[in-house]
Amino acid sequence: MREAGAALKEVFGVVAPLVAPGITTMELNAEIERKIFSLGATAPCKGYEGYPAAACISIDDVVVHGIPSLRRLAEGEIVSVDIVLKLNGFCADATRTYAVGRVSDEKQRLIDVTRRCFYNGISRIRAGARLGDAQHAIQMTAELAGYGVVRAMTGHGIGREMHEDPTVENYGRPGTGPVLKAGMCLAVEPMITMGTWKVKIDSDGWTCRTVDGLPAAHYENTVLVTADGCEILTE
Ligand code: MF3
Ligand code: CO
Repeated sequence: MREAGAALKEVFGVVAPLVAPGITTMELNAEIERKIFSLGATAPCKGYEGYPAAACISIDDVVVHGIPSLRRLAEGEIVSVDIVLKLNGFCADATRTYAVGRVSDEKQRLIDVTRRCFYNGISRIRAGARLGDAQHAIQMTAELAGYGVVRAMTGHGIGREMHEDPTVENYGRPGTGPVLKAGMCLAVEPMITMGTWKVKIDSDGWTCRTVDGLPAAHYENTVLVTADGCEILTE
């Protein structure tokens, strides 16, 4: 799992400098695929239930599962790049939301708070804690900042498969949910909206966007539960 995580970090090293006005999301995905395969890894998303690409690239009001296309990134947009790779039989999953050029203070705050949701969430993770402790911390961080927490999409356990038990919601009550054990790996991935948390799926069957058209941000890492905390494998 650590090796898969390290490989995924390398892939994001290629992504960050490419995010700029003018690149198409398909070009960005092609570079991501090239890097994944050059590392000897595979891309579990490609072909998953018919999904056509290695990466999900989601602009502004698209929360998750944006399909790479001829759409060009434009100054002032925010774009989430969500990538899963599999190396030597183990999966890693991570997402970053980038500002394209200069963005509004409002959008930058959404990106920053979403990242903080992740960190506040994982600060509650350790062997013996309950998953609801972390989920609650994510929800409180988002809602106290005035943002929405997407319900329709969740994080998940991860290992030999990209999606394993347990489901990791971004909301919950302390002291509830499964008891965490050292050695478990979780993809913790707050998906946070500037307005309503309600989402709809486009007719392509994938693209998930906010119903009010306001932007969303997403931040995700694969984390390993340890006796006294957790280790982030993808950052
Ligand atoms: N990273 C996404 C997740 O955490 C995976 C989406 S892959 C797709 O669930 F194939 F479903 F697009
Ligand atoms: Co995930």
